[in-house]
Amino acid sequence: MVEQSAEGALDERLLHQARRVCEEAAIAAARWRGRGERDAADKAAVDAMRAALMSLEIAGTVVIGEGERDEAPMLYIGEAVGKGTGLAVDIALDPLEGTNLCATSAANALTVLALAPKGGLLNAPDLYMEKIAVGAHIGDDVVSLARSPEENLQAIAAKLQAKVSDLQVCILERDRHADLIARVRRCGARVQLISDGDIFACLRTSDRKSDIHAYFGTGGAPEGVLAAAALKVLGGCFQGKLLCRNETERARAEKMGIIDFDTLYSIEDLVKGDVMFAASGVTDGTLLDGVRFEEDGIAVHSLLMHEASKRIETVRARLPLSDAI
Ligand code: FBP
Repeated sequence: MVEQSAEGALDERLLHQARRVCEEAAIAAARWRGRGERDAADKAAVDAMRAALMSLEIAGTVVIGEGERDEAPMLYIGEAVGKGTGLAVDIALDPLEGTNLCATSAANALTVLALAPKGGLLNAPDLYMEKIAVGAHIGDDVVSLARSPEENLQAIAAKLQAKVSDLQVCILERDRHADLIARVRRCGARVQLISDGDIFACLRTSDRKSDIHAYFGTGGAPEGVLAAAALKVLGGCFQGKLLCRNETERARAEKMGIIDFDTLYSIEDLVKGDVMFAASGVTDGTLLDGVRFEEDGIAVHSLLMHEASKRIETVRARLPLSDAI
């Protein structure tokens, strides 16, 4: 049974269990790569992730999941997972980050899970979130959603003793970002457009070899909390602001206790205390290889991170064919 230490750190054994959960979801989703059926791929990942979570000796609560109870039959926000024995943990999950990426066999589809002691993760509704992320080498207090993209680019360039034209910003390619993309380019900075997957895009800001200096833009709030969990371990910087597009969304957020939509959430607001983050590659990507079905087993490549133990590693597992869901 996994426990929490007196200092509030999660037992390291939980990280391996988180990895198994991500691996099983990745294997299930990988069978749907390139089939053009994003919902079927997502469902396969959800079913596999839920089955794996249910076998763990934890008293888990999904705080970031597939949506709210009436909309999501499984892994909905508030669902209890695990055997109900052992440590009480908050769970944030995205069984398939990049459903379109998986359906089209494009790069960087992942399965993602974060764990924190109970009360450690913001119970964020399934809304949009305006986000900004930069790497640890740029540091806290350099960028803010309270400032314009132009001001943020100037501040990053000053901090790096570089020119704005040396910088590259990753942005989701969406119509709502047309003005943002134009403004970043007008400043002289370069823009890397991605079709999906802003958790990984935020993580890349912490990789000094990536040529991505910042992530700007609006995406899912659940993905924002998951990115914050990863960046907390990596030492990166992230700020998010919840966006309500209509009264229905406002009512849903208020039901979950969120009434102030001007709050700029820092990593510490989104993720308190110790945190673990696991992700497995579904399709081949920049950081992780996709699942490989081979004659003698299934190869899965995962990223594992734990704040308290400062552990950050990628791991390759070879699972027997019979183990796969
Ligand atoms: P899904 O895997 O749920 O399809 O999400 C992919 C994603 O690109 C996220 O990374 C991002 O936060 C969100 O979609 C953006 O939402 P939208 O596609 O509505 O712009």
